[in-house]
Amino acid sequence: MTKEIQRITIPDIVEMKAAGKKITMLTAYDFLMAELLDDAELDMILVGDSLAMVVQGRDTTLPVTLDQMIYHAEMVGRAVKHALVVVDMPFLSFNLGIEKTLESAGRVLKETACQAVKLEAGPEQAETIQALTSVGIPVMAHVGLRPQSVLAMGRYRVQRDKSQLIATAKAAESSGAFSIVLECIPVEIAEEITSAVSVPTIGIGSGPGCDGQVLVTHDVLGLFDGFKPRFVKHFSEMRQQSLQGLKQYCKEVREGVFPDDEHSFR
Ligand code: KIV
Repeated sequence: MTKEIQRITIPDIVEMKAAGKKITMLTAYDFLMAELLDDAELDMILVGDSLAMVVQGRDTTLPVTLDQMIYHAEMVGRAVKHALVVVDMPFLSFNLGIEKTLESAGRVLKETACQAVKLEAGPEQAETIQALTSVGIPVMAHVGLRPQSVLAMGRYRVQRDKSQLIATAKAAESSGAFSIVLECIPVEIAEEITSAVSVPTIGIGSGPGCDGQVLVTHDVLGLFDGFKPRFVKHFSEMRQQSLQGLKQYCKEVREGVFPDDEHSFR
């Protein structure tokens, strides 16, 4: 008998905060990884614009296009049966007027099997969030360090302007955001924001007081051996294990050990 799989919904995520249940979220950009995360029973999966750096090898998240986000979200959406899937709105796709934003976010929901969009929200995005949520497009806001603003900031840095951070999070909540990512915010400020809003906060580099946590899966699995920010923890060392396997493959092919009889047809 197969187990019936229930999709996690937006109200489920919101209720987890009230119930004091920590929310788990990681990134996926393709079918295989999304299936793996769903099997691991993540609550939410993010098709992050970090794919610009992780998949495309870019220096920042700025170059990724809406079409490319939809291409990846479509693969992820097809794989996931249980988790709630959120798709990042890429740089400038929500800043060129309400009509264009509705059209772009609408494409994400219509062309993929994903359930919500995320946007990097300054105080000026309250109206945009309100426009999206009023037509039924669920929005996750992203407050604190906003990687799409890296050129203006100069570099990625911890965000410490407490009153502005609290005001932005509250504005996102009252505009209808169902959840708020808090990126690179000191522990005490993240805790204060978390108590100030009724919707769940999902932290990345913002300490244990958030209602949930998100990281880039490739970091969690130790697939990167380059730059490792302070907030990243490797939960496995897949790069090392993969390298070992790949080197063994080359060795066996070169030495004529593979393929052997077991892996050949007669
Ligand atoms: O693009 C991304 O992966 C994100 C994070 C919150 C991890 O926005």
